[in-house]
Amino acid sequence: MAEIGSDLQKAITLLQSDELVGIPTETVYGLAGNALSTKAIAKIFEAKDRPFFDPLIVHVPSIEAAYQYVTHIPEKALLLANHFWPGPLTLLLPKKLIIPDLATSGLSTVGIRCPQHPLTTQLLKLLPFPLAAPSANPFGYISPTNPQHVNQQLGNRIRYILDGGECNVGLESTIIGFEQDQPIAYRLGGLSIEQLEAIVGKVEIQLNASSNPAAPGQLKSHYAPTKKLIIGDLETLAVAHAHLRVGILAFNRNVSGVEITQQRVLSHSSDLSEAAQHLFAYLRELDQLSVDVILAEEVPPVGLGRAINDRLKRASSQ
Ligand code: TXA
Ligand code: MG
Repeated sequence: MAEIGSDLQKAITLLQSDELVGIPTETVYGLAGNALSTKAIAKIFEAKDRPFFDPLIVHVPSIEAAYQYVTHIPEKALLLANHFWPGPLTLLLPKKLIIPDLATSGLSTVGIRCPQHPLTTQLLKLLPFPLAAPSANPFGYISPTNPQHVNQQLGNRIRYILDGGECNVGLESTIIGFEQDQPIAYRLGGLSIEQLEAIVGKVEIQLNASSNPAAPGQLKSHYAPTKKLIIGDLETLAVAHAHLRVGILAFNRNVSGVEITQQRVLSHSSDLSEAAQHLFAYLRELDQLSVDVILAEEVPPVGLGRAINDRLKRASSQ
């Protein structure tokens, strides 16, 4: 098992010798390594069993720092960065040579993000290099939202996890790229399209991943528990699966006829940010119960609700 603590100096020493460290962000925990070192980057892919065609996000402490790694920031990208950084927004920007091709899977753009977590901000400011960090879960599994999640799955592969408590957004960053300087969303996430459009105007959405070489990591099946997950009307599904042990992931109320200990409610007050914050932790809990199948329902498709539904669909795809 890895050690969990808040010793920044220890994290720095490990990162400087190309070791990996679990880091907190507002979205999910990251598995971080020196983004300028091919040795550290290779370790990230290896520890996650991640295919090399799936590029990594590079984390920086500020917009000024981002300029060291990209050749150009389109006007609308800068507008977004000014408004939403630090925050759950990743911008795909043309990379400088200093970013190794291994980090971007050979793409000419690099995903850059300035995360919002005091411990990680401090870490990034103290380090002489940016941090490449995918979500700290084995490839394809549910993303971690606290240090214990990271330890359960990668604890035998890394030595240290910085303890930043529970993530307060709970969904990965929204990924925005640019074509002819117009913004395109490649992944829905912790920043809603409505919030983005209020600043920058129309944002096109292009999620269909497998057919879209610009976002090779947006695979149809992702964020998935090991148990089968079915989405639909919970009451109908519960009746249809009455012969099995079911776990329930509901939006805002419990479902009658299923034991309460087998149910998780994302937000009793129908608050989508609260629902987002609980999503991955509850999916994990249900996955660890003795159930045969997890039944879930979609949430209202507005704001963060669209990103929550996107994660549920990918989690249910086998
Ligand atoms: O919130 C987050 O973004 C978290 C925290 C740790 O920052 N990180 C995260 O990383 O979710 P990861 O590796 O699990 O997902 C990053 C996704 C990949 O699936 C990949 O497809 C996409 O970002 N990506 C990264 N660089 C890209 C690029 N140059 N072009 C297209 N997609 C890119
Ligand atoms: Mg991930």
